[in-house]
Amino acid sequence: GDVRLWGARFADGPSEALAALSASVHFDWRLAPYDLAGSRAHARVLHKANLLTDDELTRMLAGLDQLEADFEAGTFVATVADEDIHSALERGLLERLGANLGGKLRAGRSRNDQVTTLFRMYLRDHARIIGGLIADLQDALVGLADAHKDVAMPGRTHLQHAQPVLFAHHVLAHVQALSRDAERLRQWDERTAVSPYGSGALAGSSLGLDPESVAADLGFEHGSSGNSIDGTASRDYAAEFAFITAMIGINLSRIAEEVILWNTKEFSFVTLHDAFSTGSSIMPQKKNPDIAELARGKSGRLIGNLTGLMATLKALPLAYNRDLQEDKEPLFDSCEQLEVLLPAFTGMMATLTVHRERMEELAPAGFSLATDVAEWLVKQGVPFRVAHEVAGECVKVCEQQGIELDQLTDEQFAKISEHLTPEVRTVLNVSGALASRSSRGGTAPSAVRVQTIELKANLIIQ
Ligand code: ARG
Repeated sequence: GDVRLWGARFADGPSEALAALSASVHFDWRLAPYDLAGSRAHARVLHKANLLTDDELTRMLAGLDQLEADFEAGTFVATVADEDIHSALERGLLERLGANLGGKLRAGRSRNDQVTTLFRMYLRDHARIIGGLIADLQDALVGLADAHKDVAMPGRTHLQHAQPVLFAHHVLAHVQALSRDAERLRQWDERTAVSPYGSGALAGSSLGLDPESVAADLGFEHGSSGNSIDGTASRDYAAEFAFITAMIGINLSRIAEEVILWNTKEFSFVTLHDAFSTGSSIMPQKKNPDIAELARGKSGRLIGNLTGLMATLKALPLAYNRDLQEDKEPLFDSCEQLEVLLPAFTGMMATLTVHRERMEELAPAGFSLATDVAEWLVKQGVPFRVAHEVAGECVKVCEQQGIELDQLTDEQFAKISEHLTPEVRTVLNVSGALASRSSRGGTAPSAVRVQTIELKANLIIQ
């Protein structure tokens, strides 16, 4: 028979070319479990409205259970002729229950309110999965910071040596960014906990169904849509989810880029674990940071998923348009890419070997203590403008002689400025420079300790 849900007024079936273009079963099968949950909730609300008898409801729910079992066992298969997974499962139900009973389920709902409800459910589940994977990465990074509490490294701006920082402080900066990503997912979930089921094709239902009870049944904590047109036509929740996943990708790619640099011969800050790096088919000496590179690469793909969806949504008139079917593949992809990337990325970070001697050797290099000289002068009452000039003069002399700041003699200091007494040496070392930055959020060991405690507490509630 004709499997189309809309065949009645059409003399001809769809052309092959249309069917090929229109079909979405090859990707929207992912919505099958949510479709079945939606159908159960819809059956119950039809029963509440006296549109299904007690016996019909019982048989309907049994039919849906059977369909679910057959789908999982692979004995019920959606085909291209079904168009989408929702028509496929409806066909499956009709085959199992007969048209008289099976045909009653479609009353008062449309694929327009179905798809967007089920899509919300899918994304809400994956927000939790991705949130959990982010927490695992944060745990690994906090562990990395904890294991190297007192290691100094060159802090950089413009990729140039700027000021020494604690390695832990640097790593925790990434944890802070990931905490905001996790928070974004939680806040998104709150906003998305509204069910469009019951909006029908666009105008609502005349059958006296109760959308609020469907919403509760499907776990939407904030009830059902206040506007059926908005319910069926809006996809800002999908765009927002695509942004959050793209931002996660971007944050991972920033860590990745650093790992790639740190792992070069020139930096030699870290060594990757064998299990989380790859070799070269031709160069036997190679040990490549492929996980970090894939993170960097996939972040571009995640950004593409976001911009592609936004371009699809732009200027779409209300209410549902078939363009909206293009919402699913990019979002499924964003979820699946992060879910395969994050565990590997966490493994890479958890097994990183840090070369503390190398980091510490470079921490004071490149005149990174020049600011400390200037700030020391300020504490002696010298105006910062003068202090900055004097410290700059020190750097100039060092550059001319090919030495570091702490190698200047007392005479050289005195010649540069009368304010530069030998006491300036107290700040010309990394540990003094670190310890002095002890106000909230600073890189002093005491401040980093506070930060670690706060992040750990945040990870527990997250
Ligand atoms: N599969 C479509 C989608 O994902 C839903 C089908 C709605 N079709 C329609 N003609 N109203 O958006």
